Amino acid sequence: MSRPIINIGSINIDYVYRVPHFVQPGETLASQTLSKGLGGKGANQSVAIAAAGGHVQHVGQVHQSDVWAVEQLTAAGVGTDAIQLSSEASGHAIIQVDDAGENAIVLHGGANQTLKPDTVSSVLTQHSEAACLLLQNECNLLADSFAIAHELGVAVVLNPAPMTQDIIDLPLHLLDTLIVNQGEAQGLTGEIAIDDVVRTLRDRLPNTRLVITLGAQGALLAHSGKILECAAEHVTAVDTTGAGDTFVGYFLAGVVAGLSDQDSLARACLASAIAVTRSGAISSIPTLDELSRYKN
Ligand code: RIB
Ligand code: NA
Repeated sequence: MSRPIINIGSINIDYVYRVPHFVQPGETLASQTLSKGLGGKGANQSVAIAAAGGHVQHVGQVHQSDVWAVEQLTAAGVGTDAIQLSSEASGHAIIQVDDAGENAIVLHGGANQTLKPDTVSSVLTQHSEAACLLLQNECNLLADSFAIAHELGVAVVLNPAPMTQDIIDLPLHLLDTLIVNQGEAQGLTGEIAIDDVVRTLRDRLPNTRLVITLGAQGALLAHSGKILECAAEHVTAVDTTGAGDTFVGYFLAGVVAGLSDQDSLARACLASAIAVTRSGAISSIPTLDELSRYKN
């Protein structure tokens, strides 16, 4: 088995409301359907890594009454020994999905925001042989986790989602890999045009593998002087929730398994295109088998 990816990440309960359009200020809007399921950018990415055949240890917290969430992750092939039960309410997300399949999300951090420094340092010390540490921006201790991993010589991969101002203050030049969508890349650089975004990020992070997802335009990767591109599949969007996480998990699992950057990118683009055609977050992540069937 390949070396583990350690993912310190959120585990949310997602409440997905189908609406004709996003609710407007002052409006009360009836939803067409409501479904409840496991989500959270961290959990989604762990499930995507496992679906892609990778080995992942998830570090996170849920409320003690949500053991079902841990069991669902275990059943999906995610290592859950480092998930702790907490007296804090589990994180949750109120997700509106409109007729175009786009989403708008209100997040409550809950137990994701009360990870303990001791847990993080002991897991990272125990796993200093890990292939990398994966981080998103839905848990506390982001800067601390980054610093501890760097000190232990563990490569850090960051998907700064959702983007917040304090991400800019992290020592991003120390990252092994940065994976961002277009909006996050614009937020990080203050640039609008994608060429300017890429140039600014490459100047600032010359040693980092940069991956920028461009929605229906596919994705691009910039590393050691080269730029690779991948076109998106043409699909009809049902629910884009979890598509970015599917991309991150598939891309990283590919790289850790020794696939080339180009092949990892292609597989991630295909997996996330499939996720867009399905409802929900974790429920929309395809298996490797589904990817090969899609291509044939
Ligand atoms: O990226 C999608 C995820 O964002 C959802 O599962 C929701 O929990 C929010 O964190
Ligand atoms: Na989806």
